[in-house]
Amino acid sequence: MKGRLSSFLAKRLGAVFHCALALAICSAGALADEPDFERDIAPIIAKRCLECHDADKASGGLNLTNHEGILLGGESGAALVPGKPQESYLIERVAAGEMPPESRGIAQPIPGEEIALLEVWIAAGANWPADRTLNIYERTTDVRFVQLYSGGGHLDDTWDAHVNVESNHGQHAMEIDQPIAALLNDLAQRGLLDSTVILFGGEFGRMPFSEGQGAPGRNHNPYGFSMWMAGGGVKGGISYGETDDFGFEATVDKAHVHDIHATLLHMLGLDHELLTYFYQGRNESLTDVHGQVLHEIVAS
Ligand code: HEC
Repeated sequence: MKGRLSSFLAKRLGAVFHCALALAICSAGALADEPDFERDIAPIIAKRCLECHDADKASGGLNLTNHEGILLGGESGAALVPGKPQESYLIERVAAGEMPPESRGIAQPIPGEEIALLEVWIAAGANWPADRTLNIYERTTDVRFVQLYSGGGHLDDTWDAHVNVESNHGQHAMEIDQPIAALLNDLAQRGLLDSTVILFGGEFGRMPFSEGQGAPGRNHNPYGFSMWMAGGGVKGGISYGETDDFGFEATVDKAHVHDIHATLLHMLGLDHELLTYFYQGRNESLTDVHGQVLHEIVAS
């Protein structure tokens, strides 16, 4: 543990040394090396520990979502002693490589710098802002791609409205309406909406006509359906493309799935025609030989 502490100190000293050379410019950089709860500690706990140590699943009796929980400790007593990393059980378990435990036979060691941060944080008194409760879902900024599902299963468990489109879509729309609004609001509140592209859609729509005589169910419709997009790179407040009057088939500004892919890649800063990977003897493109960027929906 001493080694880790001293390497952290060496880094700090390094920062101080550079500051001596360029005083005004990097004094802020030196400060940035102080362990800060929000910046340094919360992400480690949320990412590495909460999966097994939150209120619903407090493994070993230890809830690491709030200050009270971490002070209270678990079945073995206090998890940490503020000011004394060497005497903190939490550090003992993490430094021994026991926490997080191995998953499916694979060790999940946490990087030495993170352990050093935890140690320095405890040494400095283990400050935890009052009323701050950590949530396992709050740390997503280092994740590049997230897929969220609504439904799952078959027929009325999911959006597969073969039996009754009104009750089926009514139920599922009700389930996701507020969560989607919350997701967009949360991203905006954290300043992430401008750098996140959100695509909401399924792989097909539903037919405009009933599946059986007098029955309110609707079969799959691959010929024309809607998706919506929001966030960075997307021109908001417009609609693009049209079906015929019955909603059966796309007729105006048709967008193929390759076009959607090309457009998404463009919004992520990638040219779908340049990005290739060598596979089975040829340079495969992500959109095969198809796909046009839909510039009309891209924010300039
Ligand atoms: C995949 C699940 C999992 C993850 C992730 C995990 N733990 Fe644990 N933890 C457990 C289980 C199960 C126990 C109880 C058995 C034991 O003590 O080994 C436990 C026990 C503990 C204990 C002892 C509690 C007591 O009082 O007996 C501490 C301290 C601890 N974990 C800290 C951490 C920290 C810190 C992290 C994140 C860096 C973490 N754990 C991540 C599953 C996990």
